[in-house]
Amino acid sequence: MTLPHTDTYQPTAPTPHLMNGQARGRSLRAQALQLLLLSNTQDKAHAVRTLDARDWPVDAQAQLQEPDGLPGRPLHPQLVHPSALAKRAVGSPEGRASLIHALTHIEANAINLALDVVWRFGDMPEVFYRDWWQVAVEEALHFELLEAHLQTLGYAYGDFPAHDGLWDMAAKTKGDLLARLALVPRTLEARGLDATPAIRNKLVSVGDQAGAAILDLILQDEIGHVAIGNRWYNTLCAERDLDPALTYTQLADLFEAPMLKGPFNLPARRAAGFSDTELATLCGTPQTA
Ligand SMILES: [Fe+2]
Ligand SMILES: [Fe+2]
Repeated sequence: MTLPHTDTYQPTAPTPHLMNGQARGRSLRAQALQLLLLSNTQDKAHAVRTLDARDWPVDAQAQLQEPDGLPGRPLHPQLVHPSALAKRAVGSPEGRASLIHALTHIEANAINLALDVVWRFGDMPEVFYRDWWQVAVEEALHFELLEAHLQTLGYAYGDFPAHDGLWDMAAKTKGDLLARLALVPRTLEARGLDATPAIRNKLVSVGDQAGAAILDLILQDEIGHVAIGNRWYNTLCAERDLDPALTYTQLADLFEAPMLKGPFNLPARRAAGFSDTELATLCGTPQTA
């Protein structure tokens, strides 16, 4: 597997928001916001993945104002209702490209979602921001790998329409970190754990071993992302004396989260930190305490 752009990001033009944080007096959170505003997804992914942010101050206490234009995104893909997306057989070249494009779009959104957590929610411990920055870096790599694969099929990001379900949930939960953690990493990203094995097998069935290898890497990383979501969700629940499983049900109702349908990837979900109680509830066999 060839990784695109393995160099460390060094801006060549004077772009203050992309320069060393301490030298410029900027923070990781402010930087995440600047990067979220970038409309070109390739530029955004490259900047996120290659920025060495280890020494940047986090500035957890800063109250950053939300600017217009979040998230920055390109003119294409055209965003449509999910029901308007054509279903194409993966056996055709166009169908396979359409599938890879849909996955590429999910990763583009995932970069935005991780950056949004870093800048938006203040007053958390420093490691919280480091965790979500690392998620953003990995999402940027996923985007680049899939986009490079899409290009080998003769297509580019933006060539097919896409839907905006992931960002819709981010927008709904922008005022509530507990809800964001419950419904984005622990719901929407966790659905990716369930869906990935079948998509991977589809790619193998049409001889796309390179695509399958990318999905193998993504699945491992995504277990880590859901684990980070679970860790911080459970931390906040403990601090607020809330029952995690019951609170999840309440938040899913309140924010109209999509109903979760099987088959579930129980080993991956277990590895990502879901409790036995939560997994039993998911499978429709609630445990009695
Ligand atoms: Fe990802
Ligand atoms: Fe992720």
